Amino acid sequence: MRTAVFSTKPYDKIFLEAANQGHDHELVFLEPRLTPETTPLAFSFPAICVFVNDRLDAAVLSDLAREGTRLIALRSAGFNHVDLVAAEELGMTVLRVPAYSPYAVAEHAVGLILSLNRKIHRSYNRVREGNFALDGLLGFDLYGTTIGIIGTGRIGIVFAQIMKGFGCRLLAFDPYPNQECRDLGVEYVDLPSLYAQSDIISLHCPLTPDTYHIIDERALAQVKPGVMLINTSRGALVDTAAVIEAMKTGQVRYLGLDVYEEEEDLFFEDLSGTVIQDDLFARLLTLPNVLITGHQAFFTRNALQRIAATTIENITAFEQGHPLENRVTAERIKA
Ligand code: NAI
Repeated sequence: MRTAVFSTKPYDKIFLEAANQGHDHELVFLEPRLTPETTPLAFSFPAICVFVNDRLDAAVLSDLAREGTRLIALRSAGFNHVDLVAAEELGMTVLRVPAYSPYAVAEHAVGLILSLNRKIHRSYNRVREGNFALDGLLGFDLYGTTIGIIGTGRIGIVFAQIMKGFGCRLLAFDPYPNQECRDLGVEYVDLPSLYAQSDIISLHCPLTPDTYHIIDERALAQVKPGVMLINTSRGALVDTAAVIEAMKTGQVRYLGLDVYEEEEDLFFEDLSGTVIQDDLFARLLTLPNVLITGHQAFFTRNALQRIAATTIENITAFEQGHPLENRVTAERIKA
């Protein structure tokens, strides 16, 4: 199927071309992000393939549908960047990659925790400069701490398994608790209890209208003073301005982010020669105990292989009229 692949990076091309062997879809790789301005690049393509910071609002979708696009193949699990109601009204099918490697994201979340706690990123710089002093590098044992997990789906479960290995007490909030977590010893509680008891809070829920700014001023007023907050899910789960205020008072002592609410103007590009225009992001960078990675939690070889393979299988299934098990519908947002 003729497919316009937006936001292509060299690694996307390598993995998608390998997965496409034997399927023979005509993949046209485009470097730009999908925006209202770049939409014409996809005109006449029956399928487009997009990533997390491509914009699929009603206006873009309507332009694409008018020019013949019927399939949107997401190279992601998250689908908060797609106006699913508009897609459905326009008769477009949206397919995603529901699970490519929950390990990649869960392990990255743990990596942020370990680095923030033991200040590994700071030691790395110090030692390279011949500074072997330990002042400022004091950490704490993870053993015996309480971890609050918000969202215990595929990634949340793996995260719980890993943290159990550290000997942590596990609390969780999820509107749909699962037995696998309960069997691990996870105790489901309401959000106020999770906030009040957790030493570390890690977000693993999707971004929906219900979870937008789930960590806001009100939530931050309830957390245990000195909490560590980890977000590897979606930037807009956290109200950045509120978290900066909470860091200034010490209510939040450590912040690990792989996602940021305004990341589409920043992440996945080399901006080292430019002035960052986002003042909130720039402020975050000045705070000690803030560790930010640029949406790389998914970025393992294993995950890229699975993303490419499932994306190609999705396109093939659509083209051949097979059942679409990875379809996302507007109904799913409420699920
Ligand atoms: P999943 O769909 O398997 O699990 C999500 C869980 O969140 C479900 O158990 C659901 O019931 C729960 N949930 C829904 N609403 C909630 C709420 N209001 N409060 C608490 N929990 C709620 O999704 P999966 O695969 O575990 O991924 C989780 C998120 O991780 C994705 O939505 C995506 O945003 C993010 N992600 C980030 C990546 C990265 O590279 N940083 C890569 C892949 C996913």
